[in-house]
Amino acid sequence: MKTYEIKCPVTVCAWDELSDEQRALVTKAKEQTDRSYCPYSGFHVGAAAELQNGTVVLGCNQENAAYPSGLCAERTALFAAGAQFPEQPVVRLAIACFTGGHFTAEPGSPCGGCRQVMIETEDRYKQPMEVILYGEKESYVFRSATDLMPLYFVGDNLKG
Ligand code: THU
Repeated sequence: MKTYEIKCPVTVCAWDELSDEQRALVTKAKEQTDRSYCPYSGFHVGAAAELQNGTVVLGCNQENAAYPSGLCAERTALFAAGAQFPEQPVVRLAIACFTGGHFTAEPGSPCGGCRQVMIETEDRYKQPMEVILYGEKESYVFRSATDLMPLYFVGDNLKG
């Protein structure tokens, strides 16, 4: 028997420690929380996906009275990017959450389904996507979505 320790590197940044490019994308994700459709949870999530050609595709959570029919902000943005710009790799994804009249102090944490879709996006374009989880106090920067979910499942796993 062996025990492995799985490490997931994350860089913790104050607002002024983010680069200009990172701050610009986070600002778009923050603005996007305003367009969230979340009458059931009141939890506004905004996502901004930056493509290799510099285009930014936005997403926000879209809720539904039949709860499972809704979709998270991250998947809204990544699926829109895949649908509109299928040839363009996603190089960076920023996420911000707003509830109770303010942005969350701690970084928003993507759900498992969104992590899976982020990893599929990386696998699709064969390149890492930086992920920035914004928090008012501090933000988390992951160099790749795979750092958000170790032992992830991708198409190669289907080959056995
Ligand atoms: N939500 C997201 O948009 N992204 C996540 O990764 C976590 C949760 C949304 C889904 C739902 O509309 C609301 O937040 C509360 O769960």
